[in-house]
Amino acid sequence: MGERCLRSFVKVSAPASIANFGPGFDTFGLALEEPKDIIELTMDVYETEIETVPDYSIPTKKNAAYAAASAVAWRNKAAVPFHMKITKGVRPGSGIGSSAASSVGAALAMAEAIEIKMKPEEIIQASSLGEKMASGSAHIDNVTAALLGGFTVVNSRNPISVFSIPPEDLPQFSVIVALPDIVLETRKSRSVLPKEIPLEDVVENLSLCSTMVHAIMQKDVSRIGNCLKDHVALPYRKSLVPGYDRVQKAALEAGALGFSLSGAGPAVFAVADSGGKEIAKAMENAFKAGGFKCQSFITRPGRGAEILEVG
Ligand code: HSE
Repeated sequence: MGERCLRSFVKVSAPASIANFGPGFDTFGLALEEPKDIIELTMDVYETEIETVPDYSIPTKKNAAYAAASAVAWRNKAAVPFHMKITKGVRPGSGIGSSAASSVGAALAMAEAIEIKMKPEEIIQASSLGEKMASGSAHIDNVTAALLGGFTVVNSRNPISVFSIPPEDLPQFSVIVALPDIVLETRKSRSVLPKEIPLEDVVENLSLCSTMVHAIMQKDVSRIGNCLKDHVALPYRKSLVPGYDRVQKAALEAGALGFSLSGAGPAVFAVADSGGKEIAKAMENAFKAGGFKCQSFITRPGRGAEILEVG
């Protein structure tokens, strides 16, 4: 593509995210301040290669980032070889938007490298191809959160339309995430969902979603916690995360204001306005009591993907 490749190096960060945020299946998202993926894209190369650090041994053409970056390049008639180094802060398959962070970072970096102005909806569309490659489903809740930051809502999928309440307009709360040592692919976690959901469960979720958005606008953290329930996906998925009820009970007893599955799992999260360390410990111990190792961390809502360096 020669003349169009105006940048030889672009470095981008893209955050982890919590999809669904309780009741908003495939609709709500929350970007986290930490962890983040760092994507370094180099254009002056002869062969396309994507390496991950640490090395997760994902073949380049099976990497979500490849699908997202290639979609941006092809759409703009700029298919060229590239090298991408992805330093993974977000462990793949954990349920906190690992493929979304890589996809959004890759799409954004490619758009910057070929100096094409793309609308957020176009970056989201390209990034959704990364999600499709990783999980078989082009859901856009994680990628929207990873791109825009803050609390995000998908208000239409076709055409894509999304909005975000940025972190500075959100109330102050901690997000305590527990990552149990359980392998659960999003593909599997979606496959257990029925095609039809009982009407009364849908009605419950409509109430929860509406109240959640109001609680966020009102900066009412206790009601946000209260709305972290789900009658649509969680009932079918809970059994895939052994000890879910025990961990939830432990988190709430330790002072959490609410608790839910993060995206398709296996990660779970709690929100709190204080006592994050005790809640994290309680969640870890509850997983351990069921025989599962677990890591936890405390973070808060954060910004979306950012371009850090252009060369
Ligand atoms: N909304 C998606 C799901 C997120 O729950 O399957 C997957 O990370």
